[in-house]
Amino acid sequence: MSPKHFLDIASQSPEALRAILDEGHRVKAEGRIRTDRLRGKTLAMLFERPSTRTRFSFDLAMRELGGDTIVASGDEMQLGRGESLSDTAKVLSRYVSAVMIRMLDHGGLTTFAEAAEVPVINGLTRRSHPCQIIADLITIEERVGPLAEQTLAWVGDGNNVLSTLLEAAPKLGFKMRIATPPEFALRPTVVDTARRLGADVTVGTDPKEAVRGCDVVVTDAWASMGDEDEEERRHVFRPYQVDEALMEEAGPSAIFMHCLPAHRGEEVTNAVMDGPRSAVFDEAENRVHAQKAILAYVFDRLG
Ligand code: CP
Ligand code: NVA
Repeated sequence: MSPKHFLDIASQSPEALRAILDEGHRVKAEGRIRTDRLRGKTLAMLFERPSTRTRFSFDLAMRELGGDTIVASGDEMQLGRGESLSDTAKVLSRYVSAVMIRMLDHGGLTTFAEAAEVPVINGLTRRSHPCQIIADLITIEERVGPLAEQTLAWVGDGNNVLSTLLEAAPKLGFKMRIATPPEFALRPTVVDTARRLGADVTVGTDPKEAVRGCDVVVTDAWASMGDEDEEERRHVFRPYQVDEALMEEAGPSAIFMHCLPAHRGEEVTNAVMDGPRSAVFDEAENRVHAQKAILAYVFDRLG
């Protein structure tokens, strides 16, 4: 039987997503206790790029579930000397129970997953960041209410986090209002797919218009890992900063979200990051609960 990977949101059914979110709420309510649900399991965590939240939250999740972790970066492995992704996947499948990988090349991740005989989890690629979106959806349900009643506004770059959020929209029924600079818009295929699946999504360039009356304002760094045009972006994105004036355009109980790391003074001001509407540290905490739910999913332990 082929392993159960968690590579993106697009390939998950609405029922699977609902079950993962429910498990996230359940393990959060259970508290940060130690159980033995994953005793005997080992998760390899491979990082081609830096990470704070993904690394710590997966490690803690495995420990609290009674399992073990092994962490390595690509350049301290033979991958850095040219060993293929497929051979690495086959070897690691003989050692560990699952692999979490952060690598920019999404095609590389799928190549690895195709060769792996154990579940593979996407810890971020340039195209997709599904573990983040599970934590974000848990946070919205906690702080605002049922997803199907919410309108989310995205202000900023048409990046991996936005694409993944939009993959979830038609499956869970929330609306999306997107404002990006025209030259950094989301890939049209992602928007077309979401619409074909029934998403209520608008795409434009005006932050105020996107945010007006919404329930959740979301942004992210103006330059993601692997983007080399940071200086140009700083200039183009200036009108897309989330500040208190922009938050005033949102609904009266709207929250602010950011996957972090944030660049204070660029995409968000200190006043918004540290203000009462900010849910950013809940989101960061919820990565731990989300990872436990994702691990339960790949190891077939949901419910
Ligand atoms: N949000 C997120 O994935 O953070 P890290 O890059 O620190 O893992
Ligand atoms: N969009 C960001 C997310 C970081 C967690 C990046 O890809 O760098």
